[in-house]
Amino acid sequence: MKKILCIKRQENSESRPYREEYEIDPGDSNVTIAAALRLLSEENRIYAERDIPYRALVWECSCLQRKCGACAMVVDNVPCLACDRRVGDSRGERIVIEPLRKFPLICDLMVDRSIMDEMLYEHEVWLKGRAKEKNDDIAFEASKCIKCGLCLEICPNWHLEGSFGGMAAMTSFARLMAKEPEEQLRERASHYKTAVYNGCGKSLACRDICPASVDIEKLLVKSNAAAIWKRRM
Ligand code: SF4
Ligand code: FES
Repeated sequence: MKKILCIKRQENSESRPYREEYEIDPGDSNVTIAAALRLLSEENRIYAERDIPYRALVWECSCLQRKCGACAMVVDNVPCLACDRRVGDSRGERIVIEPLRKFPLICDLMVDRSIMDEMLYEHEVWLKGRAKEKNDDIAFEASKCIKCGLCLEICPNWHLEGSFGGMAAMTSFARLMAKEPEEQLRERASHYKTAVYNGCGKSLACRDICPASVDIEKLLVKSNAAAIWKRRM
């Protein structure tokens, strides 16, 4: 079963993008895009051993089990994890692979997603003092987020320069807000309003794209309710 990987390549954010095609024979339609890209890396190694000039494809992966979020990219126009999408999911022979489009490009399929961490630092999304044992199911649900950024890629309201942190920030807020005592919640809620509540258009485009199956709607409803609760206004 032959497939052609049509990969968007770009040496850095300033250079001209181009497409390169690679024919692969993964042998099985269940082979993931990440595994197919690893086949390419193996070919690159052979080029290197034979002294054939090439520029190795740059992309990220780690767990290969949908647990780290590193391999987020766009395949056939669908934002996804490369280790979660199979070559057989593309009906045609060609599979078009591109980097996430809303994050700054580093090289080829690798982008800079540090904005997600910066947003959490900016809003001091870390525990202060003791957490109470309450709402464990909400905290557990929120902890499923792997910070892949796919929800930001698909969100019509999230932009790199904006103050809206998207659902990747919401899950971290939700996790803390589920556990914090009343007095800490007041301060947290004011940050939450700036980083999440005010920017979310409730399109819920993120709901179906999340590879970790985070129940975004449930967390959003709970967190919004906590943030606008009258006693805290
Ligand atoms: S909410 Fe889902 S899509 Fe968004 S960053 Fe977390 S795991 Fe990824
Ligand atoms: S490599 Fe970890 S989620 Fe794909």
